[in-house]
Amino acid sequence: MADYDVIIIGGGPGGYVCAIRCAQLGLKTACIEGRGKLGGTCLNVGCIPSKALLHASHAYHDAHTNFEKMGLMGAGPTVDLGKMMDYKQSVIDGNTSGIEFLFKKNKVDYIQGWGKITGKGEVTVGDDKHTAKNIVIATGSESSSLPGVEVDEKVVVSSTGALALTKIPKTMVVIGAGVIGLEMGSVYARLGAEVTVVEFLDNITPGMDAEISKTLLRALKKQGLKFILGAAVSGVEATKTKAKVSYTLRKNDKAGELEADIVLLATGRRPYTDGLGLAEIGVEMSDRGQIKTNGHWQTNVAGIYAVGDVIDGPMLAHKAEDEGLAVAETIAGQAGHVNYSVIPGVIYTSPEVASVGETEETLKEQGRSYKVGKFTFMGNARAKTIFAGDGFVKILADKDTDRILGCHLIGPFAGELIHEVCVAMEFGASAEDLARTCHAHPTFSEAMREAALACGDGAIHS
Ligand code: FAD
Ligand code: NAI
Repeated sequence: MADYDVIIIGGGPGGYVCAIRCAQLGLKTACIEGRGKLGGTCLNVGCIPSKALLHASHAYHDAHTNFEKMGLMGAGPTVDLGKMMDYKQSVIDGNTSGIEFLFKKNKVDYIQGWGKITGKGEVTVGDDKHTAKNIVIATGSESSSLPGVEVDEKVVVSSTGALALTKIPKTMVVIGAGVIGLEMGSVYARLGAEVTVVEFLDNITPGMDAEISKTLLRALKKQGLKFILGAAVSGVEATKTKAKVSYTLRKNDKAGELEADIVLLATGRRPYTDGLGLAEIGVEMSDRGQIKTNGHWQTNVAGIYAVGDVIDGPMLAHKAEDEGLAVAETIAGQAGHVNYSVIPGVIYTSPEVASVGETEETLKEQGRSYKVGKFTFMGNARAKTIFAGDGFVKILADKDTDRILGCHLIGPFAGELIHEVCVAMEFGASAEDLARTCHAHPTFSEAMREAALACGDGAIHS
């Protein structure tokens, strides 16, 4: 008789959500977590702390940039970075302890320590052995390394070090213009650092709608961030207080160097499976280090499943959560399902960026006929009240059926606005369905309706 129906290894968004759902479905469940706190990368060193610092630095920047325009006079606030980090920590603590509470409420056993699969249905933590009918691996990811770059988390930092700086750097070089680079680069640029982003490709945010990517680049440059695009970083030489970044421009092989107080390495993340004992039990891995799973999140070894950053797909907290829910339902004998074509992505810069579904680029690749409904926030009264008229919404719909295929927007609260399109897509809605839905005035959401109208006879306010 096994101790548990399900043991989940990893207490991040994939693991803890899976654990709660398993318990809700009547399964005897334990979740093993080694870092001493629940919530994984996301709550401890990812989504939540980065959003806390983005919020605080945005408020600071807003006070200095926009308050006077609204008749709010007086010297602007100054930054106490220590206090800002305390605020960040209190947000983390509130959230992680919230999950402990949810575990107690749902009767999930929280086992602290590093788990290793030591046999069929057996997980060992320290000297203790625990048995289960099913094991779910949700061990997440860690920062990727780059040849020639040694991260010391002091001068050369990963996102974890960047979330815990003790001093605002005068100069900062960010390697990689992906999500982490742009979010963390924005934080320190707003707080006064001179930030230069070095990116291998010729554009920022690879995979994103090209028009949105260009607009974001323009907006960030306006905020003072500098960009060196098409540049391959070959190495970083660090002393105790400074670092020198060497790069080569790909178009002409010209070498360049940059010196900075802090260098942030943000060139992607890789699955984390160290110490799990997967080779010994024969779990198949992809050549990118991901655990291979089938359409039901099952590995090749019976009774072992995997979800989240450790398997294929976008490394996003909500993707991990969805898989956690679905695998719990699958184990409980229900029809767990994730709709991978409707997973939104958000970049929490200013302006914010959000996207879901196909881009114009992917539709062209597929040779699919589509129409574009576009609306700029300049025509949205509410956006103008907060000086956020830059940016636009773009809805892509099938040319013949009008079915919504994707949406990309850059502008105020983009990360919230995207969800009405996600719901519409889940229901197979047409752009006309969205256009005929009454939207309250004055809201930012009206821009979504206007973009949907633009897929038909035309928007009203443009
Ligand atoms: P994780 O959150 O990585 O959790 C895995 C957990 O497993 C860890 O706590 C680890 O300690 C534990 N573990 C590993 N091995 C073992 C073992 N053998 N035994 C016990 N425990 C183990 N995503 C978004 O959607 N939105 C964002 O805004 C966002 N911001 C981010 C910002 C930063 C700076 C970073 C780094 C990431 C961000 N992400 C964001 C990505 C997001 O954090 C991940 O996609 C998400 O955390 C993945 O969840 P997971 O459960 O798969 O893994
Ligand atoms: P990323 O994959 O988003 O971006 C990495 C960037 O580094 C790419 O633009 C790539 O071209 C570039 N790069 C790679 N090698 C390089 C080199 N040698 N020199 C210069 N540039 C180089 O990875 P990132 O930003 O590290 O984020 C990791 C993961 O975390 C992402 O998958 C993302 O989904 C997740 N995340 C999500 C957030 C969100 O949803 N808001 C926020 C932060 C992270």
